[in-house]
Amino acid sequence: MKLAVLKEATDGERRVAATPETVKKFLALGASVAVEAGAGAAASIADAEYEAAGAAVGPRAATLAGADAVLGVQGPDPAALAGAHPGALVVAALDPFRQRARVDAYAAAGLEALAMEFMPRITRAQSMDILSSQSNLAGYKAVLDAAAEYGRALPMMMTAAGTIPAARVFVMGVGVAGLQAIATARRLGAIVSATDVRPETREQIESLGAKAVFAEGLEASGTGGYAAELTDEQKAKQGELVSGHIARQDIVITTALIPGRPAPRLISDAQVATMRPGSVIVDLAVEQGGNVEGSEAGQVVERHGVKLVGHRNVPGRLAADASALYARNLYNFLSAFWDKEAGRVVLPDDDEIVKGVRLTRGGEVVSERLKG
Ligand code: NAI
Repeated sequence: MKLAVLKEATDGERRVAATPETVKKFLALGASVAVEAGAGAAASIADAEYEAAGAAVGPRAATLAGADAVLGVQGPDPAALAGAHPGALVVAALDPFRQRARVDAYAAAGLEALAMEFMPRITRAQSMDILSSQSNLAGYKAVLDAAAEYGRALPMMMTAAGTIPAARVFVMGVGVAGLQAIATARRLGAIVSATDVRPETREQIESLGAKAVFAEGLEASGTGGYAAELTDEQKAKQGELVSGHIARQDIVITTALIPGRPAPRLISDAQVATMRPGSVIVDLAVEQGGNVEGSEAGQVVERHGVKLVGHRNVPGRLAADASALYARNLYNFLSAFWDKEAGRVVLPDDDEIVKGVRLTRGGEVVSERLKG
């Protein structure tokens, strides 16, 4: 089975879908691996390192020729995959809801598209979960990005010239990214509070030494460990909670997402205006529509003296570590379905993981999540 690792074509994408470590592991299974020249450069991995690991490094056409699986970080352009084997697997973060036309094009091209962000949240799939591995790094980096924009220090400092108070950090949305943001802000010495709509997060917040800020009746657990959308009444309640809390915060990190829906709006422009000048809000959901009114993808903008940080692709800002974890997620997934006798990946139709991630097969869109 030939695996092809492409150089990412999306503007600003620095990550790569395989590392020399995972190349070696794939070879040990019995696969062959071809890597497009320069694929790892932005993640600080030289072509020579892939070659030393046993991969064939070359131009795109040679990399794709006869490939049985194409590994990517973001979904590759279906038109640029000519040369791959008919029925080849395309394994990447395919952004299926927003890139529906591209999914249809994979189907039309006879490719079997596997969306890694549709990995079910079950114990067996934890080591394959790209949302977890990438969100964890994003939560960490969000705090560093906030600290870099903040014109004050995070920890309390007692100096001969007087005392600097600790910064107050509020984390909204306590999933994987939010938990890491809490832990990172605590390590930097900030006073941290956090909120979510899933009640089980209260204990998680407190176990990290932060204060849980919850409004009564504000519960919206969905399926699979994810949140559901709030009702209008609940949204109003959350608005009151935010209004009462946010004016006393120096840094706010928002991470709230709802699968398949635009990101929920958590902070209005009027609420931003209540924060003191020099405060910073990092909107990690900016590319999904944004949690904060006025935040802009790819920009740091100022509103009412408050900086709204909207970096795109935050995991990609830590490209080396993000690639290492992402590449292991892909290896853990593909190796779990490696059939020794066949010498290739075999994906059983009735497997919960396969049913979750498979978008297209035999020219059709087969994903229940896309149909329903
Ligand atoms: P996510 O990225 O979908 O959302 C981030 C957070 O925003 C969630 O905690 C969500 O409850 C919260 N949120 C949504 N709407 C909100 C609102 N209006 N106000 C405030 N907060 C709001 O979530 P993520 O990070 O993917 O994790 C969700 C859960 O899944 C976590 O409990 C995590 O531990 C669990 N998980 C389980 C895995 C497994 O068992 N394989 C793997 C990864 C995560």
